[in-house]
Amino acid sequence: MTAHSKIDYLVIGDPVAHSRSPQMQNAAFEYYNMGRPYDKLRVDPARIGEFAAYAREHLKGVNLTVPHKQIIIPFVDELSPQSAACQSVNTLKIVDGKLYGYSTDGAGISGAIRENFGAALKGLHVLMLGAGGAANAAAFELVWQQSASLTIANRTVDKAENLARKVSGCSQGTAVEAISLTDTTALKNAIAKADLLLQLTSLGLHKDDPAPIDLTLLELNENLKVFDAIYHPTPLLQRAQQLGLPAADGSEMLIFQGAASFEIWTGKKAPLDAMRRGFKQDQ
Ligand code: ATR
Repeated sequence: MTAHSKIDYLVIGDPVAHSRSPQMQNAAFEYYNMGRPYDKLRVDPARIGEFAAYAREHLKGVNLTVPHKQIIIPFVDELSPQSAACQSVNTLKIVDGKLYGYSTDGAGISGAIRENFGAALKGLHVLMLGAGGAANAAAFELVWQQSASLTIANRTVDKAENLARKVSGCSQGTAVEAISLTDTTALKNAIAKADLLLQLTSLGLHKDDPAPIDLTLLELNENLKVFDAIYHPTPLLQRAQQLGLPAADGSEMLIFQGAASFEIWTGKKAPLDAMRRGFKQDQ
């Protein structure tokens, strides 16, 4: 931030220190000679109402990360169809003191799969690991984009079942099922038929985390594409690469969700390469 920049945009979370959104979004604003108006702020979840009141008065846009994506909802004036469906807001646009809520996490998934694998989600058989916030947004995007099938595997199987029920309501032909992350037979079947493995659990965030599944299962399908939302080399990604499978980390997902936020705020085309360079800068 330069001394004279006015901050019109914030990413909020708790914690938020690790966020690369400021460097990525400021690169996009600078590309259009709009200064560096974006910063990060840790907001205690108990004070989200106070923050919403502040945003109405003083900000043009906000990104929200864990744990704010759901708890902001009662304070939002209008939700986009996507954010209403997945009950998650990662982007606020503020116009005339009103808060408009959007979810660009789905656009992040679509963009990342297109960019990394040259593939559309339509028609794909997908095995998704996880049923938390990121997985919720992805599951809705997969059914909206008409993936052929979606198997949701989660440690807490109830959460996978709930998510499967919710997205089935919007499905236009995607076959949705829920399984336990520890059900090896079901996992084997799902991997054997999958075109894409989407790793959306938080495992891998910490260096000594175990892999979410038995990595020998990757040997069952030589056509499998492996995407891991974590953005450093996890054991899953390393094993996939050793086996010669197409594999990608979560960087492009963050770029594309950020690009969609930038376009919502400014109406300008997101400068993807500038955002990528910003994202990769050392913090
Ligand atoms: P995010 O916003 O990153 O999706 P989240 O909503 O907290 O974060 O969801 C975390 C996901 O990682 C969940 O699917 C969680 O599984 P549970 O629903 O069973 O909690 C999964 N996860 C976290 N730690 C895990 C572990 N040690 N083993 C397996 N799955 C784990």
